Amino acid sequence: MHMYDLIEKKKRGGALSRAELDGLVAGAVSGDIPDYQLSAFLMAVYFQGMTAEETADFTLAMAHSGEMADLHDLPGVKVDKHSTGGVGDKTTLTVAPIAAACGLVVAKMSGRGLGHTGGTVDKLESIPGFRTALSREEFHAIAQKTGICVAGQSGNLAPADKKLYALRDVTATVDSMPLIASSIMSKKLAAGADVILLDVKYGSGAFLSEPRDAVALAQLMAGIGAAAGRRTAALITDMDVPLGVTIGNSLEVCEAIETLRGHGPLDYTRVALELSTALLVLAGRGTPGECRAQAENALQSGAALAKFREMVVAQGGDPAYIDDSSRFPRAACIEPVAAPVGSYLRHMDTAAIGRTSVILGAGRERADEPIDHAAGIVLTRKTGDLVRQGDVLAYLHTNTPAALSEARTAYLQALSFGPEPPAPRAEIYAYVDERQVRLYE
Ligand code: URA
Repeated sequence: MHMYDLIEKKKRGGALSRAELDGLVAGAVSGDIPDYQLSAFLMAVYFQGMTAEETADFTLAMAHSGEMADLHDLPGVKVDKHSTGGVGDKTTLTVAPIAAACGLVVAKMSGRGLGHTGGTVDKLESIPGFRTALSREEFHAIAQKTGICVAGQSGNLAPADKKLYALRDVTATVDSMPLIASSIMSKKLAAGADVILLDVKYGSGAFLSEPRDAVALAQLMAGIGAAAGRRTAALITDMDVPLGVTIGNSLEVCEAIETLRGHGPLDYTRVALELSTALLVLAGRGTPGECRAQAENALQSGAALAKFREMVVAQGGDPAYIDDSSRFPRAACIEPVAAPVGSYLRHMDTAAIGRTSVILGAGRERADEPIDHAAGIVLTRKTGDLVRQGDVLAYLHTNTPAALSEARTAYLQALSFGPEPPAPRAEIYAYVDERQVRLYE
């Protein structure tokens, strides 16, 4: 295989064979193919795309480029859920325990937050004592005992994606559908679950702004999952407004606990229940109606909260914080942001609000930066609300008082006001699997 020829073929719009893609991925991991040739290939894909078959072959090659997690000895259906990233997106904290309380096995690897989006690992680490760095044996043992374990990525899963993602990041080739789909799905396939549910977000806080693009990405990923023999589907969900009412790590954990107690905000509760229902249906637990009833029952009966607590204990966390979330340390400075005008809150630039939480210390711009677990934003008004001048729109939480002024300006700049209410938007736009796209009413 000559890398020059593969670049030339892709540059002219040709489709690479499975053997060619296998060779390319092997060469990327071994270092035999230099970065400049890999980068040229990525740019050629960016402009020429890949066929669905090529994308599936490329994904499988990347998935098999390192360890493939083996979960077969865990009893029951192993499920995974992946969000393409958002602001205030704490769905794993409720969906995973609901699914586990309904008898599914959730052995899930999650990531840290970067840029304007948060990460589940950071959120869980805000629970004192909670460990996300687990050995493969610990991860297995916890999942076996409790049916739920959420840890950071360990082992050598999909090293080809790691290599290529780093190159995409510096060569302006991240935003290519086949590259995004293959990147996400290679890690999901390597993580070993039988069932994969994708939460593909669209809107100002997501990396795709249009629902049709989110549907196209979801179809591509669902097709890859099916080709690999995994039951895969996606919900397309709204990220044009932060999910729920909190952004920031311990704030979001507290909101998730409240939601598991049945007192969560409507939008977050709806999305969590719909994702849980879709997982249960994919796992073969019944009709959509039956699965919805199981998910609601897990929430209302307290079984999901009990599962969350069990996971916290198993991973070294202090359950006293789950029983009484007022124990979580509060930020030293909590400042209101007042409405500058009396009007409808027409739009929230959700990525900009995510970046505001980073200014407050809740997130990071570079992977090695520390974060402040107590920092973040509590929203008291959201898109569509009619506000009076001076009403509190949000509270900024931080342990860095010097950040407040910049954060307040950034927060207000992210909002648009007007005399007319905005058109309403549903939390869930569509369900997608390899055979169908079903729009929600
Ligand atoms: N997330 C990933 O893991 N990969 C991408 O390419 C984009 C988002």
